[in-house]
Amino acid sequence: MSGVRHLYLHLPFCSSRCGYCAFVVEVGGLDRRDDYADALLSELHLEGDVLGRLDTVYLGGGTPTLMRPRRLRRLLDAIRPRLAPGAEVTAEANPETVDGRQLEALVEAGVTRISLGVQSLQPHLLSALDRAATPDQARAAVACARAAGFASVSVDLLFGVPGQDPDDLHRDLEEVVGLRPDHVSWYELELKAGSALARCGVALPDEDAAADAYRTVVVGLEGAGYHWYETANFARRGHQCRHSLAYWGAADYLGLGVGAVSTVAGRRWRNAADLHAYVAALADGRAPRRSEEALDPDTARRERWMLGLRLDRPLALGWAGPPDHPEALPRLRELGLMEGGGAHEVRLSREGRFLQNAVLGELMEYA
Ligand SMILES: C[S@@+](CC[C@H](N)C(=O)[O-])C[C@H]1O[C@@H](n2cnc3c(N)ncnc32)[C@H](O)[C@@H]1O
Ligand code: SF4
Repeated sequence: MSGVRHLYLHLPFCSSRCGYCAFVVEVGGLDRRDDYADALLSELHLEGDVLGRLDTVYLGGGTPTLMRPRRLRRLLDAIRPRLAPGAEVTAEANPETVDGRQLEALVEAGVTRISLGVQSLQPHLLSALDRAATPDQARAAVACARAAGFASVSVDLLFGVPGQDPDDLHRDLEEVVGLRPDHVSWYELELKAGSALARCGVALPDEDAAADAYRTVVVGLEGAGYHWYETANFARRGHQCRHSLAYWGAADYLGLGVGAVSTVAGRRWRNAADLHAYVAALADGRAPRRSEEALDPDTARRERWMLGLRLDRPLALGWAGPPDHPEALPRLRELGLMEGGGAHEVRLSREGRFLQNAVLGELMEYA
């Protein structure tokens, strides 16, 4: 076995919890960052045997940049001997937590790709989302990232935010394109159970408004030269996110850190979601698992469909296996929602990509 080629590290610290966020996040607790880095290194040591040469590493959060370059460098120094030549190393960053010097330090530590959580450049939307950064801080972070010399600069945006009207969206589009990132992830805001927004019962835009907003984003970014390579992801040539592509292609990955998920050789496990429990287990030399299961063939087949159809490239039926309702395929082709490949491969047509959930609902038992 050549080993797992994709590594995710979860860095959970945040200064506050944004109203829409339900990720595994540790608010405050900054005095625990060194203990946490020690625990991550112990977990890398404990699980490292499954790793091959790493094509991609992703430092996600939480707010990885709250770890500061010194700790991130310590982690990356431990990973460096395992990197394949030309490996992609991404770090997520919140604009208000970085400056030029810190971003340069990340480049020196081996980070090749930065993903900045911009979300919007409209002050009233940033405030509706409880974001800490101002639009100016977001603009400055993109400029500093460019100057620091990352091979790829990406920004994350949201649509479907309560109070976001079409003019707001057009202004965000115009500004984002003007910032000239190499890559854009533009997600539809989801009301996640357990988030403050869900608890206060806020209403999201209705389905038609969300569909209009999605089309505006896709058409706007394509018009500016970005390739719509995945449901919510857009890239200039040569800047697709290789780590995410591996995930959508159902490749094995090892996830380290509190709450992290791993999928290796047909098994999936989740780590403890509590920081104290995670650190304590590793201090005892134990794996910090919360659950572990064998991925049954049906679940794995469904995941290949759900993830694979997000991409603009064809899904090979010999690899993915049949959908739950293969009889729907000819009808979806006739309707112009799926296309290509005869009996061997399929993909969503352009129109089908806008109706992805409905198409998946026809093909799979759950979507
Ligand atoms: C978990 S965050 C971590 C990165 C960083 N802390 C930040 O906030 O930018 C990664 C990305 O997930 C997206 N995200 C988080 N919560 C979401 C939600 N409820 N709906 C849609 N996208 C969400 C945001 O675009 C965010 O940039
Ligand atoms: S959205 Fe990002 S900054 Fe906000 S709480 Fe979640 S992980 Fe932290």
